Amino acid sequence: MGKLQVIDHPLIQHKITLIRDKTTGPKDFRDLVGEVAMLMAYEVTRDLALDEVEVETPIGPARGWQLSGKKVGIVAILRAGLGMVDGVLRLIPAAKVGHIGVYRDPATLKPVEYYCKLPSDVAERQLIMLDPMLATGGSACAAIGFAKQYGATSIKLVNLIAAPEGIELVQKTHPDVDIYVAAVDECLNSHGYIVPGLGDAGDRLFGTK
Ligand code: PRP
Ligand code: URA
Repeated sequence: MGKLQVIDHPLIQHKITLIRDKTTGPKDFRDLVGEVAMLMAYEVTRDLALDEVEVETPIGPARGWQLSGKKVGIVAILRAGLGMVDGVLRLIPAAKVGHIGVYRDPATLKPVEYYCKLPSDVAERQLIMLDPMLATGGSACAAIGFAKQYGATSIKLVNLIAAPEGIELVQKTHPDVDIYVAAVDECLNSHGYIVPGLGDAGDRLFGTK
């Protein structure tokens, strides 16, 4: 089974609380989502491989390290995953960015896929898949399945807030995928929203509804 890591650094907990606050408007919400994504990326990339290199400082030779192994690909689950992309890119500017369009049918809560554009070398990349919310887990499972159909072999899922139901579904459906979250909440309500959660992430990011 994939591992679940709760990244509960004090800065992340502070910012997640502001994100949850219903009085936080779209601009601050966007800024905070980007900041938390960047802080989480620091931990998500902890196991990236390094090669030893030599570098010349103005004083003389020094032993150093540079990233090696698989290159990183970022995949945003549309729409709300877009809010996390820039934060991760600030740490990994050379990463290529793919997009998978999935929305949750409000009546059935089942995922509907409508778009997929991934880097052509997706099979060789360590993918970091982004979506602020992991509720029933249907959207994440569909997006991961989509990426695998296109050849992805190594995927990490990064969410700000997750419900136990969504974590369980991803771990059962895609046991090779590690999940990184900033908070695990109590449950889902009858409309499939995370309780207490933060409401509708896409609407709060983009000021819709
Ligand atoms: C939200 C969220 C996830 C999904 C989570 O997207 O960003 O993708 O719901 O729910 P699930 O785990 O039950 O599938 P939404 O369907 O609202 O689409 P949007 O991002 O386009 O607003
Ligand atoms: N999608 C959201 O944006 N929020 C939730 O709580 C559940 C799904």
